[in-house]
Amino acid sequence: MSRSVTDSQSYDVIVIGAGAAGLGVALRLADHCAVAVISKAPLPESNTFYAQGGISAVLSQGDSFESHIEDTVRAGAELCHPDVVREVVSEGPGCIEWLIAQGVEFTRDAEQENNFHLTREGGHSHRRVLHVEDTTGRAVTEALLGAARTQPNIRLLEGLLAIDLVRGPRGEPGPARCVGVYVLDQGSKQIRTLRARNIVFATGGAGKVYLYTSNPDVATGDGIAMAWRAGCRVANMEFVQFHPTCLFHPHAKSFLISEAVRGEGGRLLLPDGEPFMRRFDTRAELAPRDVVARAIDHEMKRLGADCVYLDISHRPAEFVRAHFPNIYARCKDFGFDMTKEPIPVVPAAHYTCGGVVTDLEGQTEIPGLYAIGEVACTGLHGANRMASNSLLECLVFAKFAAKSILDSLPSQQLPPEVPEWDASQVTEPDEEVVVSHNWDELRRFMWDYVGIVRTSKRLQRAKRRVDLLLGEIDEYYGNFHVSGDLIELRNLALVADLIIRSAMARRESRGLHFTLDHPETRGPEAAHDTVLSPVDSPPEALEQREVAG
Ligand code: FAD
Ligand code: SIN
Repeated sequence: MSRSVTDSQSYDVIVIGAGAAGLGVALRLADHCAVAVISKAPLPESNTFYAQGGISAVLSQGDSFESHIEDTVRAGAELCHPDVVREVVSEGPGCIEWLIAQGVEFTRDAEQENNFHLTREGGHSHRRVLHVEDTTGRAVTEALLGAARTQPNIRLLEGLLAIDLVRGPRGEPGPARCVGVYVLDQGSKQIRTLRARNIVFATGGAGKVYLYTSNPDVATGDGIAMAWRAGCRVANMEFVQFHPTCLFHPHAKSFLISEAVRGEGGRLLLPDGEPFMRRFDTRAELAPRDVVARAIDHEMKRLGADCVYLDISHRPAEFVRAHFPNIYARCKDFGFDMTKEPIPVVPAAHYTCGGVVTDLEGQTEIPGLYAIGEVACTGLHGANRMASNSLLECLVFAKFAAKSILDSLPSQQLPPEVPEWDASQVTEPDEEVVVSHNWDELRRFMWDYVGIVRTSKRLQRAKRRVDLLLGEIDEYYGNFHVSGDLIELRNLALVADLIIRSAMARRESRGLHFTLDHPETRGPEAAHDTVLSPVDSPPEALEQREVAG
C-alpha cells in the first residue's frame, strides 16, 4: 500500500537520472547550489555505464571540426540542426579535458604514449573516438560518481522512481512552472513529494520498448512520457536506432559488440563466409548504423538465417584481447573465441534519437524544466545518430544547462507548498498478471511491426494494439496503487504510441525510418522534424526548415 509524504527539504535543482548527463550537470552545478540526483535503479546502473566504443571529439592532426560536422550531418540524413551540430562538435575537446579532470584515464596510443588512442566507428571519416579500452561508460560513470560523492552540495538518492512532475499555480501568462516531482520510494513503497526550483530530466532513452535491445532495464522512456504528460512537445520519435551487432545467444541479453570492432577491421559475413556489406554501401562495415542494420536485416530475411557473423580473427590475437578485453571475455563466457572464429551477431534496439524538444540550453517549454542527454531531442542527431556522438551530447548539454540554471537562479522564488499524492481513490491491485502480460505484448509487437523495416499496414496493426493497451493500462492505473512495473509500463506504452504516430506521419524513408510503402527519401519539402504536441492530437510538422548542409 503506498502512503504519501512531502519531504521538508527543497532543492535548487533536482536532477532525475545518474548517467553521463545527470552526473555531468550535477557536478557543473555543485559549487554554486544544492542539488539532488535521483535514480530509480541502484547506482551505477544506466545506459552510460554500458557504453563501449567511446566519445567522439576532434583531437587528431588532419581532423577538423568541419569534418566532424559534415559526418554528423551526413549520417543524420539532412535532419540535423546545423547550429546545434556546430556548437556540440566545437565543445568536444573541452569536454574531454573536463572528463580527464574528473579522473577519466583514456586509453593511450601504444606507439605514441603522449597521444590518446583514437578509434574509428561508422560514419566517421577520421579516427576521432576516445575510449577507455572497451568499457568507456564504466570508466566515465565511476569517475563522475566518485567526484559527485565528494561534493557536499550533491545528494545522491537511489531507488527513487520519478512518477510525474508537479506544476505550480498559474500566476502569469504562459505555462505554469514545474515545482517538484512525485517519486515512488522503491524501498518503503511510499510516494514522496520532492520540491525544487528547477528540474532536469536526464532519464535516458527507451530501448526497452522493443523485445530485443542493447539497453539495460532502466531505459523505459520515463522522462519522455512525464514531459509529454506535463505538456511538452516531443520530436522525431520514429528514428529508433538499431545497433547492427549484438551477440546472438539465448542468454546474452543482446550483449553489444562495439562498432569499434568493425572500426579496427572486423568484417561482416554471411553464414557461408561471404562478406556482403560492400554490396550495400561503398563504406562497407563502416557505413552509418542505419545502413548496416538494414543490410543485415535484409540478408537474414533473404536467407532465412538466424544471424550473420562478425569476424576479426584475421587481426593478431594479442591486438584483439588488448583492444577489446571485455567483449573478448564475455564472448568467451558464451563459448566464442573472437580471436579464432567469427562470432554470431544480430541487430537490436539501441538508441532513441527522438525525445523532448529543447533549445540549445536544454530548456523545455515548461519553465524550470530541462531535458538533457538521450531523453532530449536537441537537433544534433537528425534522422540517425552517428556513433559516439551521444556521450558527447550528454556532456555538452550538461554544461549548457548548468549555465542556464545558474544564470536564472538568483531571480527564482523558493518552490511553494505542493499537494501531496492522492491515493484515496485506489485499492490494492487485483491482477498483477495484467502488467506483466501487457509488458511482454507491447515489446513483442513493437519488434514485429515497428522495427527496422516498416510498412503502413504493420504500423496500423501496432496502432490498434497500442490503443487497446493504453486504455487497459489507464484503467488499471486509475484504480490501483502504483508499483514500479506499472509506472514503467504506462510510460513504455505512451512512448510506443509516440513512435508509431511519428512513423505513420513520415511518408518517406529517411535515416533510421524505413518503410516498404515509401522506400524513397523525398526532397527538401520532407526534410523537417516530426513534432508531436500533447495539445493537438494529430502529428504536425511544425519545424519546416532549410535542408541542412
Ligand atoms: P542514462 O545513462 O541511460 O541514465 C539514465 C538515468 O536515469 C539512470 O540513472 C536511470 O536509473 C535514471 N532514470 C530513468 N528513469 C527514471 C525515473 N523515472 N526516476 C528516476 N530515475 C530514472 N554512446 C556513445 O556516445 N558512445 C558509446 O560508446 C556508446 N555505447 C553504448 C553501449 C551500450 C550497450 C548502450 C546501451 C548505449 C551506448 N551508447 C553509447 C549510448 C549512450 O550510452 C547513451 O545514449 C547515454 O549514455 C545516455 O546517457 P543519459 O545520461 O542520457 O542516460
Ligand atoms: C558501440 O560501441 O558500438 C556503441 C557506440 C555508440 O552507440 O555510440
